[in-house]
Amino acid sequence: MCGIVGYVGKKPALPILLSGLKRLEYRGYDSYGFCVFNAGQEPFFHKRVGKISGADKELLEMDIQGTIGEAHTRWATTGSVTEANAHPHFDCNKEIFVVHNGIIENYSELKDQLINEGHKFSSETDTEVLAHLIEKFLKEKTEVGEKRKLEEAVAVALKLVKGTYGLLVMAKSEPEKLVAARLSSPLLIGVNDGEYIVASDPIAIAPFASNIVYLEDYEIAVITLGNLSLAKERAPEKMEYESEEAEKGDYENFMLKEIMEEPTAVENAIKGRLIIETGSVKLGGLDSVAEKLREIDNFILIGCGTAHYAARAGEYMLEEYAGIKTDVDVGSEFRYRKPILNDKTAAIFISQSGETADTLACLHELKQKGVLSLGVTNSIGSTQSRETDAGVYTRSGPEIAVASTKAFVGQLATLAMITVYLGRQRTMSLVTGSRIVSELARIPDLARQILLQREKIKALAEKYKGYKNFWYIGRKYNAPVAMEGALKLKEISYLHAEGIPGGELKHGSLALVDKDFPTIAICLSDSVYEKMVSNIQEVKARGGIVIAIATEGNENIKKIVDDVIYIPKTLEMLSPLLSVIPLHLFSYYMAVALGRDVDRPRNLAKSVTVE
Ligand code: G6P
Repeated sequence: MCGIVGYVGKKPALPILLSGLKRLEYRGYDSYGFCVFNAGQEPFFHKRVGKISGADKELLEMDIQGTIGEAHTRWATTGSVTEANAHPHFDCNKEIFVVHNGIIENYSELKDQLINEGHKFSSETDTEVLAHLIEKFLKEKTEVGEKRKLEEAVAVALKLVKGTYGLLVMAKSEPEKLVAARLSSPLLIGVNDGEYIVASDPIAIAPFASNIVYLEDYEIAVITLGNLSLAKERAPEKMEYESEEAEKGDYENFMLKEIMEEPTAVENAIKGRLIIETGSVKLGGLDSVAEKLREIDNFILIGCGTAHYAARAGEYMLEEYAGIKTDVDVGSEFRYRKPILNDKTAAIFISQSGETADTLACLHELKQKGVLSLGVTNSIGSTQSRETDAGVYTRSGPEIAVASTKAFVGQLATLAMITVYLGRQRTMSLVTGSRIVSELARIPDLARQILLQREKIKALAEKYKGYKNFWYIGRKYNAPVAMEGALKLKEISYLHAEGIPGGELKHGSLALVDKDFPTIAICLSDSVYEKMVSNIQEVKARGGIVIAIATEGNENIKKIVDDVIYIPKTLEMLSPLLSVIPLHLFSYYMAVALGRDVDRPRNLAKSVTVE
């Protein structure tokens, strides 16, 4: 969602905040703001609508020397995109400054109360109530007549708040300190030789500090030069994060870099985990629950966006190869269901960021009901990875572009390994296990072959960039891939696309097919090939254009479709790992052809930490 950075140290804070904010911009980028306390002078306070990239020169020329500050890049939730609604937010006298991620659900009633008490608001946001509440409790004496410190006022204010927050607070009256607090919205403190950098994501901390403290829910930290005071004293942990991985290198943008890294993402996911001789996998993250997993007879898979489509493909894998009943839902809907659970239910939460609020809400709900929780997570140290009972990291490396690509193939590879793990605990034979793991080991090379077709896919995007609507169809394992392909096109090109199971087309959607509404059909030489061909023919019979993703060697398909992209043959279960690559490339080149900001598409955010 939004991104937060704070700094307390000996160096000028502004360049550090600026650099952190630029690295966080993928989380939200409609507006940004800074507050830096400038020894003895008025605080430097600066907010703008727009993206931070490009604004650095102007900011650095300002020569702000203050060594303590906070900054924020916003993805609007409450209140439109205006300078007034950008963070930091402040109290009546502009003496308290707050940056906030998350949502204050009861802000409206708190605001009414504060207005009645005489507070003057200057934004439409939920966050601003925090600044005024802190102002109120900072002025008000305690029950025993003592003046409150800033952190005490923050604590009293947060008791009145319903919702989620990761926040930083500064006050002119206590200019030496930065107060940090969190509830269901991540906040991490990088520690480096007496200086501290706080951020909502390790990516902003990585260049400055390699030791990190994860703030816990309901915890309030007070940070001053050379001192970090936590509710529960603990030593910083070593941050497992490679800063260089988050650089664009020679690529024009992160999205292309990340698509080109899809073979490596699979390679990293499977590295050291496949045991071909025994047809099994080694997943250290599941060791602690191995015996419990033997008893499980039904799984619930939960994810949002792209991760939800990975879960859908995982559902086919687990049912077909591990023989386990599996149910899938998006996080934002699952929480309203009354799932039928028993002591043999386990849940798998799938998330690149490990911070998606909808997914975490389900995790909390199911944990409360005693369900064994597993995470398939990319971000090491994320809330999901810390709160699940066990799990498997996808090891895809940092994914920066808002639209998820390499994380998807990492999730699929991980779900395939979990399927083998669970299958081998049950009835999967050595031969089947061995076939899956040997084929998984080949996927990175096969994926690289697809990437060699970049220019061809780029040319197709040029050919189709004038169309405004697209169907994506596929069946069985590739029905979720069709949905992922359509989602990617929507996200970054802003074109209308719908992904549906091929068989569903005739149940209504076919009404839209005409010469202006192309269909992208995943039609591989697998168990549903003939059925997919029928669906393609239904489209062709109505004058529709079809672009097929087909298996190498299938020359016949050329006779019935308008364009074909070939991918190598693999096991049907693993085919999504390959079929999605041309779809990711196609969306990418379409978006580029249309002049879109592919890494930071309008209205979206990478890590959605509000429900
Ligand atoms: C956001 C992103 C999507 C992503 C989804 C789930 O909406 O824009 O690309 O698929 O969140 O994110 P997660 O981090 O949980 O995988």
